[in-house]
Amino acid sequence: MGLQLFGADPALMAAAAQKAEKMGVDLIDLNFGCPAPRIVRNGEGGALLKEPGRCSEIFEAVARAVGCPVTVKLRLGWDEDRVNAVEIARRAEEAGLAGVTVHGRTVSQGFGGRADWEGIGLVKRAVGIPVIGNGDVATAGDAVAMLERCGCDGVMIGRAALGNPWIFTQARELLVGERPGPPPALQERLRVLLRHLELSLNFRGEAEALREMRCQAGRYLRGFPGAARARDSIIGATSVDRMREVIRELPGGASID
Ligand SMILES: Cc1cc2nc3c(=O)[nH]c(=O)nc-3n(C[C@H](O)[C@H](O)[C@H](O)COP(=O)(O)O)c2cc1C
Repeated sequence: MGLQLFGADPALMAAAAQKAEKMGVDLIDLNFGCPAPRIVRNGEGGALLKEPGRCSEIFEAVARAVGCPVTVKLRLGWDEDRVNAVEIARRAEEAGLAGVTVHGRTVSQGFGGRADWEGIGLVKRAVGIPVIGNGDVATAGDAVAMLERCGCDGVMIGRAALGNPWIFTQARELLVGERPGPPPALQERLRVLLRHLELSLNFRGEAEALREMRCQAGRYLRGFPGAARARDSIIGATSVDRMREVIRELPGGASID
């Protein structure tokens, strides 16, 4: 399991990485791609791409500080006039990082437009360390297409996995040449939704779990008859106990272990 850090101060990042390593993480990833205004305003996340020298300082400080692999997640550049992912990825390689993930958008694009998979391919061809492609993989078929088009070593899936964690199994099936199984039935979706609720409750406590699951529930139910009404009743639950009951009252929900 990897843990991602963001920040702009090399010494602080190194200290945080050591702390994370002591917690037992297998890998540390550095966030050089976040476009959120409150992050980039502080020169952190995607704003670091504007400062290649500082990128190297952070890479070197963190790589020196820990024994576990360190990777970085980038965007293509700050904006279309400052596309420099190849340069930053080369700096990562020189500093001894173990890999780089490239989201095929610039920071100023946010989530708009389409991810530029060709840009990911350019980074792949420029460095020897593993390159993981990211951006607009909506289906298992897209994951295979990205591997083929970019020549990258792996694919990272973000939004399409929300409410659909089965996408990883589906992509693996396609990659190893197995016939993809049927999409998960409603009962299987409800089983995983309930497990997500329990994990969220244990990890975050009741108030945060309720908030998270109000966002997530609709995604698990998408496409099933009556999904909108079911989602509304889950969102309306004011306790985790009630949310569990509402999910179990849905068709097939009562027989989930
Ligand atoms: C709600 C949300 C939270 C995200 N948080 C992070 C984050 O903490 N670190 C990170 O590197 N990327 C984060 N991302 C970006 C995704 O990892 C990914 O780069 C982006 O969504 C594009 O990939 P996709 O098209 O597969 O979603 C986040 C995206 C979303 C939608």
